[in-house]
Amino acid sequence: MKKKITKILKIKNRRPLVCLTAYSKPMAKILDKYCDIVLVGDSLATAMYGMKNTHHVTLDTMIQHGISVSSNLSKALCVIDMPNKTYRNIKEAKKNAKLIITKTGCDAVKMECNGKNLKIIESVVKSGIPVMGHIGFTPQHYNKFKIQGLSEKERVKLIKEAKANERAGVFSIVIECVRDLVAKDITKSLKIPTIGIGSSKHCDGQILVTDDMLGLSGFYPRFIKKFARLNNIIEKGVQKYNKAVLTRKFPSKKHIF
Ligand code: KIV
Repeated sequence: MKKKITKILKIKNRRPLVCLTAYSKPMAKILDKYCDIVLVGDSLATAMYGMKNTHHVTLDTMIQHGISVSSNLSKALCVIDMPNKTYRNIKEAKKNAKLIITKTGCDAVKMECNGKNLKIIESVVKSGIPVMGHIGFTPQHYNKFKIQGLSEKERVKLIKEAKANERAGVFSIVIECVRDLVAKDITKSLKIPTIGIGSSKHCDGQILVTDDMLGLSGFYPRFIKKFARLNNIIEKGVQKYNKAVLTRKFPSKKHIF
């Protein structure tokens, strides 16, 4: 198994895994110092491109951002989301996963599980490409947000799905917006690490969309803690620039040739 993935697996039960998303070089360079896993998430569709959801982001877009991130990470494991409709069957999934890996040099791809695509996920793993799973609220398959695991039936289904992902060979699994005690049960029932988003501290690691937790995206549901308010900082900087240009204070002598 690839070295960086073996390292991630060994962290389970020792300390929480720290994971965040990145879409660009400057962010990748900072996250590399503090994260075990950096995900080029298809959340870039909403966070960066202002799309309504993640349903229409293209493979080319993911690859372009993937190159920018992957080539600027040295320590962290780089995972890239396979976008919607790029893994509808085994042939398509294997072709596109290989394309992502070869064009970007990333370490792994992430595939959202819809309960029916486990054979497809397994085929990508068997082709030698490490896959991170994703269960619970999987944005590619929903139009409306819904917390997962509220009923006993959903609890049983989620645990079954998590175990099936593990059997399919995923090295780790994102659990999104799943009720806390269900996330705890899933985490206890798996050998691979679970990475929670809105799914409680009982997961083996945590991930957030960086733009959300830095206050940049304007998307702040209950499970997002704002660790910084970059929107305010940027606005203040832009205001100062606006004033300096309008009053001809910028550029001054020290900024010209
Ligand atoms: O697209 C994304 O950023 C993700 C994370 C929220 C897990 O899938």
